Amino acid sequence: MSAKKQKKANIAVLISGGGTNLQAILDAEKSGALHSGSVKLVISNRKGAYGLERAKAAGVKAVAVTKKDCGSQEAFEAELIRRLDEAKTDLIVLAGWLAILSENFTRHFEHRIINIHPALIPSFCGEGFYGLKVHEAALEKGVKVSGATVHYVNEIPDGGEIIAQKAVRVYPGDTPEKLQLRIMKQAEWKLLPKAAEDICAKIVAGDHPGFQEVR
Ligand code: GAR
Repeated sequence: MSAKKQKKANIAVLISGGGTNLQAILDAEKSGALHSGSVKLVISNRKGAYGLERAKAAGVKAVAVTKKDCGSQEAFEAELIRRLDEAKTDLIVLAGWLAILSENFTRHFEHRIINIHPALIPSFCGEGFYGLKVHEAALEKGVKVSGATVHYVNEIPDGGEIIAQKAVRVYPGDTPEKLQLRIMKQAEWKLLPKAAEDICAKIVAGDHPGFQEVR
């Protein structure tokens, strides 16, 4: 199928946990805010991830693919690629995905993987900065502003081109949990569906670099 004939881009969302960002994307699709793309597949690298239930509740195919079951990083990525290709994935959204992806994987989907990071890159990012650890580090440093970043994914952890950012205030007395929730509500849950829509619109229009290279 050519890009131009396709009315909606196929989205796959990769998760590792609760999946509130996945929920924001599913809700955006339901409300029509996300209309150039449709979530066709959700993959978790953890079997018990609650996000899998969210996907099923929305009628979206949901599978767990674990490195342990696959036996090696290579086999894990080969299985991910097989599943993603099978679903004719145009855009991969990492939404709280905590497994490492090698250059082999990211090159396969150049400019077709985006990630949400819960800080203003280049602050509090890179290896070891994920989930609450990001907010703990931000509070420890005493920053007055943090936020979220959506970026393309390449082989460098949190190192790909920045797509969108939103700043969020830090208040005296904040705990990592309080800050995490404020950043999710005020930034992540808005920024990620919007970025997905913007990119899917370009894909559908045949106006996106990653799409041209692959198809
Ligand atoms: C989100 O805050 C996301 O930004 C973060 O993990 C959380 C997942 O929550 N991702 C990272 O830290 C990646 N470096 P969710 O499963 O409820 O969407």
